[in-house]
Amino acid sequence: MIETPNIHKDMRNPEIVTVGTVNVDLIMGPQAPWPVPGTEVILPTSEMREGGGAGITAKALTSLGAQHRMIVNVGNDLFGEWLLKQYPGLDDDWIIDTVDTALTVGITHPDGERTFFSTPGHVAQFQPLELQNKLAGMDLKNVVVLFVGTSLMPTIRPALKEIFQFVRSKGGRIALDTAWPTAGWTDNTRKEVLGWLPFVDIALLNEVETHGLLHPRNHEDGANYQDALKSMPDDALFITKMGPRGARLDTLGKPPLIIPSNEIDVVDTIGAGDSFNAGFLTAFARGHDIQSCLEIAINTAAFAISSNPRRYPSGTEVGLAELSRKLKTDKVFNTRKQAV
Ligand SMILES: Nc1ncnc2c1ncn2[C@@H]1O[C@H](COP(=O)(O)OP(=O)(O)OP(=O)(O)O)[C@@H](O)[C@H]1O
Ligand SMILES: [Mg+2]
Repeated sequence: MIETPNIHKDMRNPEIVTVGTVNVDLIMGPQAPWPVPGTEVILPTSEMREGGGAGITAKALTSLGAQHRMIVNVGNDLFGEWLLKQYPGLDDDWIIDTVDTALTVGITHPDGERTFFSTPGHVAQFQPLELQNKLAGMDLKNVVVLFVGTSLMPTIRPALKEIFQFVRSKGGRIALDTAWPTAGWTDNTRKEVLGWLPFVDIALLNEVETHGLLHPRNHEDGANYQDALKSMPDDALFITKMGPRGARLDTLGKPPLIIPSNEIDVVDTIGAGDSFNAGFLTAFARGHDIQSCLEIAINTAAFAISSNPRRYPSGTEVGLAELSRKLKTDKVFNTRKQAV
C-alpha cells in the first residue's frame, strides 16, 4: 500500500473550499448531429440541473458527506435564485452580481458525446477582489482550496497567482483543475499555468490537458511529470484523469500509480472530472491511502456518469470511510473572520 503523501502535516480532516463557476445546465437529447436549420426537433429527454465546475463539484461533495464550502458568483435573476435554492446551507460565500446568470444548453448525442451552447452571463463578471475578500474572511489553516475550471474564468485568471500565494500564506493548500483552455495550450497559457505549479499541492488535470501543459512540441517522449513535480511544493500530487482508462498519480521520485476504471454504461459524461475531483478530495480529507483515494474518485465519477437522472453517490456507495466519532465531535468548520 502506498501511503498518501502528507501534504498537510498540520491538517486533520481538512475542509474543502471550491472556487469556480456555477450555472444552469439544460441538457436535452439524444440528437444525432445536426438538424436542418429552420426545423423543430422533439427530443425524448430534458433535464435542468446544476452545472459549472464548482456547481457539480459541490453537489458531489455534499452527497459524499464532505465538509465543504463554495465561493462562486451568480446573476440576480430567476436562474440565479434557482441555483441558490439547490445549495442549501452552502450559499454563505456566494456573490450576487447584477447580471444575467450564465445558461448552458447541452445537446447529448447517441454516442454519449455532447455539444454545449453557453452564454457568458455572470461568469464574465466574477471579480477577483470579491474572491480575495471571501478567502480573507476564512481561516484557511485546515482547508484545501480547489480552484476548478480556471481556464473558463477570464476575470479571475490574471489574479490567480496572487490568490494562490495568499491562500498558502494563510496555511491553506491548493488543488487545481484548469479545464481545457479556451484558446488551447498556447506558449503563454503553458507559461501561465507552469507559473502556478509552485503553489499547487494537488494537480487534477485530464490526459489532453496534461499533454498540453507538460508536453512541449519538441518533446516526444511523454509528459514530463517529474520536472513539473520538482517545481511544485513538497509532497505534491499530480493526478491525470484518463477517461474510461481510469487515472494516474505521479509523485516526485516515484513510479506512477495507475488505477483502471470499471466498465460502466455511460449515460452522459458531463461532470466526470468534477465528480472525480470531489471523490478524490473527500477521500484525501478523510485520510484514505492514495490508492483508495483514486479508487473512490473513479467510483464517484463512474456512479455520476452512469446515473439517470443524474445523481451523485453517498460516501458508503463509493467506499468512503465513515468519519470517526472523534473527528465528528471535533470542530472542523473554521470560524469566520471579518473580511478585509
Ligand atoms: N467512459 C468512461 N467509463 C468509465 N469511467 C469514466 C469514463 N469517462 C470518464 N470516466 C471516469 O471519470 C474520470 C474523469 O473523466 P475524464 O478523464 O474524462 O476527465 P475530464 O476530461 O476532466 O472530465 P470533464 O470533461 O468532466 O472535465 C476518469 O478518470 C474516470 O474515472
Ligand atoms: Mg476536466
